[in-house]
Amino acid sequence: MESFNNVVIETIMNRSSVRSYKSDQVNDQALGVILKCGIQAPNGWNHQPWDIVYVQDKTFLDELNLAITGNSGSSVFYHAPTVVFISGDKRDDYYASDCSLAAQNMVIAASSLDIGSCIIAYLTDFLNSEKGQKYKTQLKIPEGYEVCVSVALGYATSMTHSPGPRDANKIRKY
Ligand SMILES: Cc1cc2nc3c(=O)[nH]c(=O)nc-3n(C[C@H](O)[C@H](O)[C@H](O)COP(=O)(O)O)c2cc1C
Repeated sequence: MESFNNVVIETIMNRSSVRSYKSDQVNDQALGVILKCGIQAPNGWNHQPWDIVYVQDKTFLDELNLAITGNSGSSVFYHAPTVVFISGDKRDDYYASDCSLAAQNMVIAASSLDIGSCIIAYLTDFLNSEKGQKYKTQLKIPEGYEVCVSVALGYATSMTHSPGPRDANKIRKY
C-alpha cells in the first residue's frame, strides 16, 4: 500500500500483535507517553468515562494468570511485564467505544516507540466475571465500571512480526 512517506500511516500499517516478550520492564517515560496518547483519543462529549490502571507488579499478574489458566507455565498475556486495564463507566452512553479508542491510540503509540502490544480478551473477560471481582477490587476499579480492554505491553523478543492479512473487500462504496 502507498505509505505517502508518512510515519503515522507506516506505524499503523506495520503494527502487529506481539505474543512473546522480554522480561525487561517498559521504559517509564515511554509508558507515560503511551498512556497520555490513550487519553488523547476521541471520546463521546469528552466525558472521558474511563479508569486506566497499569500494572507492573509481577506477583499480582502471575496470580491473576494462574487464576485464569490454572497453570503458571502458560501466560494469557505472554509474560508481558506491563498490562494496562482500561475500564469504562457503564452509566456513560459511549464508554465501550471510548475505551476501545483509547486502547487503539496506546497500541499505535507503543508501536511507534518499538514497544510491542497485544489486546488480551482473556484478562478482560475474567476480570468482569464473578471470579475476577476480587482482582477488580484489588485494582481499585471503580464500582459500576466494566473492564473494556486489557493491553499487554513490553519489548518483543523478536521484531520480525508481520501484520496479518486484511480483506480489503470489507470496504464498500455506496
Ligand atoms: C477485542 C480483542 C481481543 C483480543 N484478545 C486476544 C487474546 O486474548 N489473545 C491474543 O493473543 N490476541 C488477542 N487479540 C489480538 C488479535 O488476535 C489480533 O489483533 C488479530 O489477530 C489481528 O492481528 P494483528 O493485531 O497482529 O494485526 C485481541 C484483539 C482484540 C481487538
